[in-house]
Amino acid sequence: MSQILKIKTSLFSNDGQSSQLVDTYADQWLQQNPGAAVVERNLAAAPVPHLDQARFQAFTTAAEERSPEQQQVADFSQQLIDEIRDSEVIVLGVPMYNFSVPSTLSTYFDHIARAGITFQYTANGPEGLLKGKKAVVFITRGGVYGEDHAQTAYIRQFLGFIGIQDVEIIHAEGLAMNDQAREEALSAAHRRIADLAA
Ligand SMILES: Cc1cc2nc3c(=O)[nH]c(=O)nc-3n(C[C@H](O)[C@H](O)[C@H](O)COP(=O)(O)O)c2cc1C
Repeated sequence: MSQILKIKTSLFSNDGQSSQLVDTYADQWLQQNPGAAVVERNLAAAPVPHLDQARFQAFTTAAEERSPEQQQVADFSQQLIDEIRDSEVIVLGVPMYNFSVPSTLSTYFDHIARAGITFQYTANGPEGLLKGKKAVVFITRGGVYGEDHAQTAYIRQFLGFIGIQDVEIIHAEGLAMNDQAREEALSAAHRRIADLAA
């Protein structure tokens, strides 16, 4: 059965503009894929714990040598990875917070970048292991910074690193500038969603 994974990161949770775009896209995708499963990870409502030395060591300790606590840490990371692995489409809502992604998303990325599981180094450099997936990313911003911004590049680079090369990024910008700019940006994002669904 096909599955879509929704990842929301707005601190306003489901009320966030990025979260609403995620829901709209997922609803349209579900119309095209009736019966598909939906998994949601809301990183504002349930943030993943910050990566520290103990957690990182749990990742790098061989499974047969892990303490029960370390195994719990590895199991949680594996659960996050399995949500992606089992999904055909990953739809992400990413507001710009202080010129970057929400810290909850960067922490989530720390849990899913796992050597030997989601990427590996080869003679030709790194190879992502989560192949054959599509990601749709909604970036919402109060100001206007354009597509050629480090925030956009970071998301594309991270997803590519774990093997997700088919990435559609939709920017909705100027959302805090004035009503007209906000309405135009959100309308354009909704038109893009309709195009993608067609
Ligand atoms: C803590 C915080 C930091 C923000 N930093 C920026 C910023 O650096 N640049 C920007 O253009 N907008 C910034 N904004 C505005 C948000 O990007 C904008 O309101 C966006 O629509 C939020 O998306 P959301 O509703 O999904 O959370 C910030 C908003 C908050 C709450």
